[in-house]
Amino acid sequence: MIDTKELTKRFGELTAVKSIELHIQEGEIFGLLGPNGAGKTTTISMLSTILTPTSGTAIVAGHNVATEREDVRKDIGVVFQDPSLDDELTGYENLEFHGRLYGMSKDERKERIVELLELVELIDKKDIPVKNYSGGMKRRLEIARGLMHKPRVLFLDEPTIGLDPQTRRYIWKYIKEMNAQERVTVLVTTHYMEEADYLCDKVAIIDHGEIIALDKPSRLKSKMGKSVISMDVSKPDKFCELVRKSKWVIKSKCVGDKVHLTVKDGEKLIPKLVILAEKNGLNVNSITMHSPTLEDVFIQLTGRHLREEQASSTDALRKRFMARRGH
Ligand SMILES: Nc1ncnc2c1ncn2[C@@H]1O[C@H](COP(=O)(O)OP(=O)(O)OP(=O)(O)O)[C@@H](O)[C@H]1O
Ligand SMILES: [Mg+2]
Repeated sequence: MIDTKELTKRFGELTAVKSIELHIQEGEIFGLLGPNGAGKTTTISMLSTILTPTSGTAIVAGHNVATEREDVRKDIGVVFQDPSLDDELTGYENLEFHGRLYGMSKDERKERIVELLELVELIDKKDIPVKNYSGGMKRRLEIARGLMHKPRVLFLDEPTIGLDPQTRRYIWKYIKEMNAQERVTVLVTTHYMEEADYLCDKVAIIDHGEIIALDKPSRLKSKMGKSVISMDVSKPDKFCELVRKSKWVIKSKCVGDKVHLTVKDGEKLIPKLVILAEKNGLNVNSITMHSPTLEDVFIQLTGRHLREEQASSTDALRKRFMARRGH
């Protein structure tokens, strides 16, 4: 349903999307997971014909995005990262307007609007102006609008950004339901690893415009071993080196003041790691262990967190303390 070859977008000196290859099957929910500025919106913009690629090709629903724009547009629905509803119109009227734009008949529109408002549980609110909707309700209406003309592909650019965890879960439920009911192929971008993990059949991790990993979420995680150990230890770089020499771990990375280790058997390893640190005169301040997440995959590949604020609060506190002491 989506096929790209060496798809590239440059803005002057900056290459926002570098030669990406995507092969997305019909009915799949495919995720592009990456931090701010990774090139997610630029990719969606090219696939939805809003931006012209600098080089490379992209075929969406059998049509070339550069030379058959109108054909592509008929077959796709887009939910933009920035809100784009008409606040003065009611929920019903927003969908009605969209249906007219796409040349749907009156009966067709009426039936489809009711069907979609039921899917996203907004039927009770259909006659209220959108300016009186909550953020989550607006997002649900935008998803319904994206589906209005029965597209074969739906692009969702950060569908749950800024929403609370409960609303986020509802939106995931609607996306799964509509994917199952309508067999629509979904390309979703996100920087929330839980979203990519829960929602997507396959995930491409994108960073600085490049795809650095692509697989099923479960496979991406299982490559990380059984557990991830995060250690707050004095001289993390030195400790990382010691650990690498020990050959106990699958992967290791220092991020800020923490050492992240992906390992096979975490429980057995923790005492050994503490002894190793102490023998070498290093202080262990804390140790935590968890099952691998897509965030861990990103950390191991890039040495960074998906989001800055995910760096632990103790790191932030220590940095502030050190800054005050003039370090
Ligand atoms: N029209 C433009 N002109 C110049 N640079 C742009 C333009 N659009 C995007 N960029 C740059 O391209 C890079 C990728 O931007 P993009 O919006 O695709 O990232 P993103 O992954 O969607 O980020 P976010 O998570 O913040 O939405 C960024 O460095 C951005 O500043
Ligand atoms: Mg974006």
